[in-house]
Amino acid sequence: MRSPDTTLEKKPASILFVCLGNICRSPTAHGVFEHQLKKADLHTSIRIDSAGTGAYHVGELPDSRMRASARQHGISLEHIRARAVHESDFEEFDLILAMDESNFSDLMAICPEHLQHKIRLFLDFSRHAELQSVPDPYFGDQDGFDHVMRLITETCENLIAYIRMLNDKI
Ligand code: 4NP
Repeated sequence: MRSPDTTLEKKPASILFVCLGNICRSPTAHGVFEHQLKKADLHTSIRIDSAGTGAYHVGELPDSRMRASARQHGISLEHIRARAVHESDFEEFDLILAMDESNFSDLMAICPEHLQHKIRLFLDFSRHAELQSVPDPYFGDQDGFDHVMRLITETCENLIAYIRMLNDKI
């Protein structure tokens, strides 16, 4: 985790995960984070959603290769359907986590300036300070999806630990 005491000032009541298509990376973060929140008994206090900066896959289930990877970890993504980012998301969510740098700049380009502080890179919460972007697995093989699943799982664990620490501070 980078600069844990300066990254967020208070516990977010809502988090939106964003990638390009909302069928691989962000629905995985959505499902994994939801699963971990339930285990930590924090699920009633934080609203979770995911969306894509593109609208090509709206209404679709997460990619079958991504669902297979999540299933291997005991996590179902079957309840998630792709949607595009809406302008209202910038008002509605406290924290908006971009899965890669291109998602980050696409979000910054459409977000009103006074709300841009809500947008962060998901991997800001990773232990690996050198990592900025969760790789897009869409045009690769199953190993790429499995790698994404592991990276997202450990980063979500860090994010939960960080949120718990904020809870303790309040
Ligand atoms: P995601 O992956 O942004 O993690 O959902 C992608 C899904 C679809 C495409 C690109 C990335 N696509 O080009 O259709």
